[in-house]
Amino acid sequence: MIQVRLAPLCGVTDHVFRGLCAEQGCQQSYTEMISAMGYLCAPRQRAVQELLIRGENEPRVCVQLFGRDPEVVAEAAKQMEALGRFDGIDLNMGCPAHKIAPSGEGCGLMRTPDIAEKMMRLTVRAVSLPVSIKIRLGWDAEHINALELAQRAEDAGIAEITVHGRTRMQQYSGEADWDQIQLVAEKVQIPVWGNGDIFQAEQAIQRYRTAGVAGVMIGRGAMGNPWIFRQILELDQGRKITPVTVTERFRMIRTHYDRMLAWKPEPIAVREMRKHIGWYLHGLRGASRARREINRAETPEQVWAVLYEVEKEALAADDT
Ligand SMILES: Cc1cc2nc3c(=O)[nH]c(=O)nc-3n(C[C@H](O)[C@H](O)[C@H](O)COP(=O)(O)O)c2cc1C
Repeated sequence: MIQVRLAPLCGVTDHVFRGLCAEQGCQQSYTEMISAMGYLCAPRQRAVQELLIRGENEPRVCVQLFGRDPEVVAEAAKQMEALGRFDGIDLNMGCPAHKIAPSGEGCGLMRTPDIAEKMMRLTVRAVSLPVSIKIRLGWDAEHINALELAQRAEDAGIAEITVHGRTRMQQYSGEADWDQIQLVAEKVQIPVWGNGDIFQAEQAIQRYRTAGVAGVMIGRGAMGNPWIFRQILELDQGRKITPVTVTERFRMIRTHYDRMLAWKPEPIAVREMRKHIGWYLHGLRGASRARREINRAETPEQVWAVLYEVEKEALAADDT
């Protein structure tokens, strides 16, 4: 059976969204990335505490840490383990952001494989939870070293590796190179997870069957589309994909909204739901107008009113 996971997505994969994906069959997810140094300096900070919530409906969640100092990351991992609520520690070695990678964190670690290896060794030694890494192909096209990192990871006692098939310099442009992912999967014994550009259930099955990976991790393809997990599992079991109906789509939006309102103060929930609704409405008739109105709406009631109209329109047009 195919294994499917939700990628860590800063600003998107909070426990509410992860829970919705889990209900659609996602087997494992990750917290948004958390700064190891930030946590050690201010562990009680509200923002970080929110990132550390694990929902009751989540089957498996790993906490993802980023940092550049191996001792700091290992210590933060130890404290994460002590919280007793996560199933693994994931080390971010793939973030390409301007504030992260150039200073040696995230994908910057792929430019300093000795430091990356030390971080892996110290973290593995510091915790008894499984430790995984998430990497890219390398810094740029001239410096592809995912295989080297994977081999060092295997040596260091890392349990699993996820490879996003792009370089740091590509950011999110171009296409994920699954041949490179396959190469890594063939050369190491520990499970390798493929990640990059899976937007349809069919692509997940095709990648899984050809790349020799342990499973696939899905990021942007799940935004506004938690059903992708259910659909992948349906295909894998030789069944037909159940299309997502208009009614189901709007039910999901309302469930998502209600859970956010139950968790966060209303103005914050209203603001944070705007992007999700924009993604959920993608492809529906009247979506752009509805998005504009929802971005201006300040109360849930105003949002409900817009959703009611757009749902009516979509039902009449029978969009699915
Ligand atoms: C909005 C956004 C936030 C992201 N945040 C993280 C993160 O916190 N940690 C991480 O390892 N990768 C992060 N990524 C990268 C994704 O996990 C994933 O590797 C990338 O999007 C490629 O997969 P996809 O093509 O399925 O989206 C982020 C990507 C996006 C688009």
